Amino acid sequence: MPVTRVAGDDTSIQFDAFAPHYDAFTSGSDYERWTECVLAHARSHGLAGQTLLDVACGTGNSLIPFLARGFDVVGCDSSSAMLAEAARKAPQTQLVLADMRELPALGRFDLVTCIDEPLNYLATESDLVAAFRSIAANLAPDGLTVFDLNSLLTYRTTFAHDDVSESDDGRVFAWRGESSGDAEPGCEACAWSTSSYPRRMARTTVSAAATCNVTSRASGWSRCSLTRSSSRSR
Ligand SMILES: C[S@@+](CC[C@H](N)C(=O)[O-])C[C@H]1O[C@@H](n2cnc3c(N)ncnc32)[C@H](O)[C@@H]1O
Repeated sequence: MPVTRVAGDDTSIQFDAFAPHYDAFTSGSDYERWTECVLAHARSHGLAGQTLLDVACGTGNSLIPFLARGFDVVGCDSSSAMLAEAARKAPQTQLVLADMRELPALGRFDLVTCIDEPLNYLATESDLVAAFRSIAANLAPDGLTVFDLNSLLTYRTTFAHDDVSESDDGRVFAWRGESSGDAEPGCEACAWSTSSYPRRMARTTVSAAATCNVTSRASGWSRCSLTRSSSRSR
């Protein structure tokens, strides 16, 4: 199913850059367990139906387990590159390019999810209000919404560390977190990422005239995610 374009702004550019690496970066995330947790919460509050809107669905990892459980799913995200990955993995799913602060009328859903910190990217109260208004407008009369938020710990760990990993096919992914281990509540965090296939270093030879050193360098760092506001840790 083709991706429908509704809205988008410059913040999506950071996620567009991150999209090719996202699944490798989150390979340790247990979406099956998260889904069971979301469903347990929703059912304990009376979830009855099977229609789902996954807001900020990214590359589809947060909606695919719901498809497997028989839900009728629509996904939306503000990054076209993230949605392109989702469309590849869930080709029958309706995917909409839309900012969560100004969602169009997509339906009346029994459940609206927003999983793995998308709300943390909304750094002002007015943005949060706009997002919840948009979500509310897409809920069925007895519909429910379930979302998560990062705690301060994420800003003191994931966003404070550098990390380099290599995929099976040799691609190297580097992450640079610019937060600090003692980040305070209310901080904003920033991280940079890059990915490339390392180029082979040319052999160096010592000739009578000179020593030739040829090295390769990973391509420039690209900013992948910008402002995040932390929730207060409890
Ligand atoms: C960490 S990813 C989570 C993706 C997916 N829910 C998952 O669990 O894998 C955060 C997602 O939020 C999306 N996002 C950030 N701000 C957004 C906004 N204002 N409107 C819609 N999507 C947004 C990004 O494009 C990205 O795909």
